[in-house]
Amino acid sequence: MFISFEGIDGSGKSTIAKMVDERLRKEGYQTVLTREPGGVKIAEDIRAIILDRNNTNLDDHTEALLFAAARRQHLKERILPALKENKIVLCDRFVDSSLAYQGGGKHLGVDEVYSINIFATDNLLPDLTLLYDMDPKDALKRIDKNKNREVNRLDLEKLSFYNTARETFLDLAKKYPKRIKIVDASKSINEVFEDSIKIIEEKLHESK
Ligand code: ADP
Ligand code: TYD
Repeated sequence: MFISFEGIDGSGKSTIAKMVDERLRKEGYQTVLTREPGGVKIAEDIRAIILDRNNTNLDDHTEALLFAAARRQHLKERILPALKENKIVLCDRFVDSSLAYQGGGKHLGVDEVYSINIFATDNLLPDLTLLYDMDPKDALKRIDKNKNREVNRLDLEKLSFYNTARETFLDLAKKYPKRIKIVDASKSINEVFEDSIKIIEEKLHESK
């Protein structure tokens, strides 16, 4: 079983993925908790290039290709071996992040970004994707330590980028309703966790 956790920054994916991992382990499942971009050394090295603030001239296409390259390495080295051993893979972000951020947010086009990702993943998609949906303004507040400062131009730019990414995620959920389940991420951590576990357990029973 391959489960991905998706949503805009600050929506609570990492927090919930960790809690799900602990719960499933307690229930006796063997799990692998991992994240993108990264998860293995080569992919973490690529991550450092992508997220380096000094790389101001990183081209958008290059960025999309680097995310796909990191994904390929992570898939080969970590995800596929774990799935072969019948483990449950819990992955903080996967292909849908590229579709929403590079395809939607950066306007490269969802179909275009999907096509380079088909090459990267041999078209392997998660069995289940939990989409943590909430207003980007509130999600950014969660990660912004200084909530009372004035909103500047860059914040506004960020907000429109995240709004487009959110809309793209929601379009994907409409397109793939069997795989992508929307979770209301604006609720309390415990409520979001319980909603997530319910969806995962349904899927686990379904596949037995
Ligand atoms: P993501 O991985 O989606 O970027 P995180 O899990 O890192 O998000 O959460 C971002 C911040 O918001 C963390 O400080 C976390 O403790 C907090 N947080 C996560 N979920 C909730 C929630 N449901 N309500 C309030 N705060 C939350
Ligand atoms: P990270 O620190 O992991 O953010 P978060 O904790 O919110 O997941 O940084 C990853 C950043 O890279 C995040 O802003 C989302 C972005 N990203 C893409 O733009 N495309 C992708 O394919 C992936 C996997 C991540």
